[in-house]
Amino acid sequence: MIIAIDGPAAAGKGTLARRLAAHFGYPHLDTGALYRAVARRLLEAGRAPDDAAAAVAAAEALSSDELASPRLRDEEVGRATSVLAAIPAVRAALLAFQRRFAATPPGAVLDGRDIGTVVCPEAEVKVFLVADAAERARRRAKELQDRGVPAIEARILQDIQERDARDSGRSTAPLSQAEDAFVLDTTQLDPEAAFRAVLAHIASRAR
Ligand code: DC
Repeated sequence: MIIAIDGPAAAGKGTLARRLAAHFGYPHLDTGALYRAVARRLLEAGRAPDDAAAAVAAAEALSSDELASPRLRDEEVGRATSVLAAIPAVRAALLAFQRRFAATPPGAVLDGRDIGTVVCPEAEVKVFLVADAAERARRRAKELQDRGVPAIEARILQDIQERDARDSGRSTAPLSQAEDAFVLDTTQLDPEAAFRAVLAHIASRAR
């Protein structure tokens, strides 16, 4: 079974995906980490995030051990990521890896922006998470503060709003919900409640 989880930044995709992966015994791919790892390579090489040729070369040279670096979560990396994620050739360069990961038996959980629409339109389970921007900014600020990184919530909210607009407005694989997605608003839900709601949805589909 392929479980596709999409939604905007800090809606709770990663936490939900990890819990579902542990529950079903599937591997989990945080596809945002792929795009973030490309951004990190570019920043370290002193290249601009909209340098398409450099970004494609970085995407083609990625290795899976780069996906675990905590630096990928830095806000600077996140900002650069949403710029290069709009480049169609970068998305194309990362597609085969994601599809191979998803197609490996017995199943997989992938989270991102276009999993249910572009990467795995055949996924048996599609979840689209949403949450108010202010609540998402509060969560992201807490996540950074817990890691000892100073964070200003108002600045993060502005960043999230800009990123939402870029992720939704780009012409290739924009953030959008699949017609057959289960839409879950996590504004008022803690991670446990969101997990339970998705498990109930999966159980109802199996009947
Ligand atoms: O989910 P995240 O915050 O790690 O994503 C970082 C950026 O990467 C975000 O601006 C959107 C982009 N992204 C994407 O375009 N497609 C994906 N499948 C995953 C992430």
